[in-house]
Amino acid sequence: MKNIIVGVLTVVIFASMAYVASNGRAYHGGEASKGFGTFKDGETASAAPAAKDDREIEQEELKSLREKAGNVGAFKVSDNYKSKCASCHGVNGEGTVGPKLIGQTSEYIYNMLIEFKSGRKENTVMKGLLISLSEDDLKEFADEIGEFPARAAELKNKQ
Ligand code: HEC
Repeated sequence: MKNIIVGVLTVVIFASMAYVASNGRAYHGGEASKGFGTFKDGETASAAPAAKDDREIEQEELKSLREKAGNVGAFKVSDNYKSKCASCHGVNGEGTVGPKLIGQTSEYIYNMLIEFKSGRKENTVMKGLLISLSEDDLKEFADEIGEFPARAAELKNKQ
């Protein structure tokens, strides 16, 4: 009886070894073979994983480049903009709940802000927000937002 159990177990173990050997991640250049310094399987074992690693690194770099090119990136904005405007207009004025601001001139932004503050343009959200800000504050925001495209371009040039 004991012998039968041992025999069955042996078969199971060998079967799973064979399965892992043919499909396992640690073989044939699989990612998990990284770090198998003493791997004995000759050239294919050491060359294949290295080639794959290079490809993976390259793809990751490409991916992050594409992501950078796809969005405007994150150029620096004032703490004021960050805390008062970014939640609705995006960290770089790309727009979320509120409309996109990047690309508008500072004059346009300033006029809109004055319109909202005075109530000539109806928007409870913007009005409530601007009521505590002076016209100088609005000018400052407008000037900053007007600079966004230049900041984005500068960031792009650095990449
Ligand atoms: C709670 C969300 C919210 C916050 C915070 C907010 N906005 Fe707005 N903003 C809006 C919404 C919504 C509109 C669209 C209103 C409309 O068109 O009636 C808008 C519109 C605008 C517009 C007009 C844009 C256009 O093209 O029509 C400007 C300019 C603007 N916001 C600037 C700012 C500035 C500057 C701040 C920070 C001081 C700010 N907003 C903070 C929600 C917000």
